[in-house]
Amino acid sequence: MADDLLAALAEVVGATHVLTDEGTTLPFRTDWTGRWTGECRAVVRPGSTAEAAAVVRACAAAGVPVVPQGGNTGLVAGSVPAVGSVVVSTRRLDAVGEVDDSTGQITAGAGATLAAVQAAAAAAGWRYAVDLAARDTATVGGTIATNAGGHHVVRHGMTRRHVVGVEAVLPDGSVISHLGGLVKDNTGYDLAGLLCGSEGTLGVITAARLALVPAVEQRAVALVGFTGTAAAVAAIGPLRRRLPALEALELVFADGVAAVGEARGARPPFDGAAALLLVEVAGSGDLLEGLAPVLADLDGVVDTAVATDGPRCEELWRWRDDHTDVINQVGDTPPHKLDVTVPLDRLGRFVEEVRALVADLAPAARLWLFGHAGDGNLHVNVTGLAPDDETVDRAVVELVAGSGGSISAEHGIGRAKRPWLHLNRTPEEIAAFRSIKDALDPAGILNPGVLVPERR
Ligand code: FAD
Ligand code: MLT
Ligand code: ZN
Repeated sequence: MADDLLAALAEVVGATHVLTDEGTTLPFRTDWTGRWTGECRAVVRPGSTAEAAAVVRACAAAGVPVVPQGGNTGLVAGSVPAVGSVVVSTRRLDAVGEVDDSTGQITAGAGATLAAVQAAAAAAGWRYAVDLAARDTATVGGTIATNAGGHHVVRHGMTRRHVVGVEAVLPDGSVISHLGGLVKDNTGYDLAGLLCGSEGTLGVITAARLALVPAVEQRAVALVGFTGTAAAVAAIGPLRRRLPALEALELVFADGVAAVGEARGARPPFDGAAALLLVEVAGSGDLLEGLAPVLADLDGVVDTAVATDGPRCEELWRWRDDHTDVINQVGDTPPHKLDVTVPLDRLGRFVEEVRALVADLAPAARLWLFGHAGDGNLHVNVTGLAPDDETVDRAVVELVAGSGGSISAEHGIGRAKRPWLHLNRTPEEIAAFRSIKDALDPAGILNPGVLVPERR
């Protein structure tokens, strides 16, 4: 049967796009951090929506699970294949269409990278506002399937806000396509919205119609060092209130900045800053005129570096963006990565509590905190833990839930956080998830083991 299926898949996509060799499939079976590796029968790379549909149909007929995968940069093991599955890699579906200048929209294949969409938008005088450090690899389909957040959520919202329509293959191999781009279109259920954040459990997205925003004329970036966490957190409200052009508001700490500096062979920007905020404003006119008095009014500031030209702005951003790569190199085992939101008025207290918790449970481990401060989204990374020991992870998510927060701010639930979904979702909500899953995927073909808990 397995051979029959592989032959059928090769018939659909061509034998060169059915990968079965263990070495060749390894990068598709291992997550970005290297913490999880799965097993699959094959990685299949369809070159069109019709091929993707035929692949899903063949797998469904054989009762073989399908794991959709884009850039494989996800951080919750959502694209790590279940045993015996077929990985459907969308990377060949990378066409990026023309920008429609009247609506500010673009149609892109699910396998197009964020960077490719951003570049196409920029060339036409527009901007795709979704941005994250994995932009060169993360795909349109993956960012929709995870409802990715990133740097600009404070101003532009999560990916869902930018998705006008999608084309997707449903678990039975049928295709839904709604890429017309009508701005107003109240014709029933929001299937595109449903697929946002569905993590490959409801459909294989093959293309999307995306909304762009006008390109910004200028931007300014300030890296502001504070005496401590309390002063940095206290600055979040005034910065949000007083800077209408606020585009990003990110938080890092001295230890993370020092590690980035060591990796880059560069001196950290300031001495004596325990916590730092990266503030980006974007718009037209003299941005510094608006930014300077706001920064001057903040309390507990040690020092500030400001940039307005592109390269220097990028330079300041690297102190923040390089955290993920640098932390992934610390120690002999991959980091445990949690991605949480706490109510902004609890953020300062949460930082102290999570530090105490990790020090207590795993004194030899190292805790790294950074994140999207403007959204109350903190990335809690712990290095020096055994890959399978979830004691610290569990304690942290319980602390988050007890603080009124979310155990997944932006990365999703995946396999990694599925056991803890009940901390944030009621039994009734989980039952509704299950009903939706069962309605669209009664045979459980798409991404089993991800997001939706097993039926009881
Ligand atoms: P994958 O990793 O391939 O898949 C992720 C999930 O989506 C899986 O469940 C998969 O099954 C599903 N999926 C993928 N493609 C499809 C499809 N076409 N149809 C249906 N389901 C699909 N995330 C943030 O939110 N904010 C950040 O700031 C951020 N920064 C990051 C920085 C770095 C350096 C790295 C490595 C990751 C970062 N991430 C961030 C996480 C990751 O980039 C995002 O989750 C991204 O959306 C994943 O896209 P992908 O194409 O790599 O998806
Ligand atoms: C980030 O904001 O840098 C990411 O979400 C990646 C991470 O959590 O490491
Ligand atoms: Zn993030």
